[in-house]
Amino acid sequence: MAMKIRYLLISGLMLGLVACEQPQKKEEQKSEAPKQEAVKQEVKQEAKQEAKQETKQVATASADGDVEKGKALFNAKGCGACHQPAADTVGPSLKKIAQAYGNNVDKLVKFLKGEGKPIVDPAKFAVMKPQLAQLKGLSEGELRAIASYILSHK
Ligand code: HEC
Repeated sequence: MAMKIRYLLISGLMLGLVACEQPQKKEEQKSEAPKQEAVKQEVKQEAKQEAKQETKQVATASADGDVEKGKALFNAKGCGACHQPAADTVGPSLKKIAQAYGNNVDKLVKFLKGEGKPIVDPAKFAVMKPQLAQLKGLSEGELRAIASYILSHK
């Protein structure tokens, strides 16, 4: 008899515990939800800040002398006769070229050296190919400057 009572008491206690615990758990879950929101927002803000820093870096990269030097060379070599900044004329616009090459200065330098394949308008490469002769004798740095100038048109 005594055993039964004890058993009943214990199971009653357990039930009580389970019953008490559950609402608490729900509360916890509820209070976790806003926390997750906050974390998400933090992550978003961080991503935004990173993006801002990146654009700052790009801005300083294009603000340095390389781009100006590249522009001067580009015009001195007569490239501007067929390449306008934003409009397609005889050749594709610098913007179109910049979009095709993204930030890949190396790949563009390779093209300027005559070692790369045309990717912007391969059908008209016959017009462009002889122009590369204008760039013979330029240093690696000068070619990089021209490439940086072209890629600054996005
Ligand atoms: C007589 C006109 C003409 C002149 C001058 C000219 N280009 Fe071009 N250029 C073109 C044409 C047409 C294309 C399109 C064919 C092509 O994509 O290769 C082109 C394409 C290009 C491309 C894109 C290459 C690719 O991947 O398709 C670059 C970069 C370029 N020119 C740079 C220059 C530079 C630098 C100069 C000066 C040395 C120059 N061009 C002078 C006509 C010209």
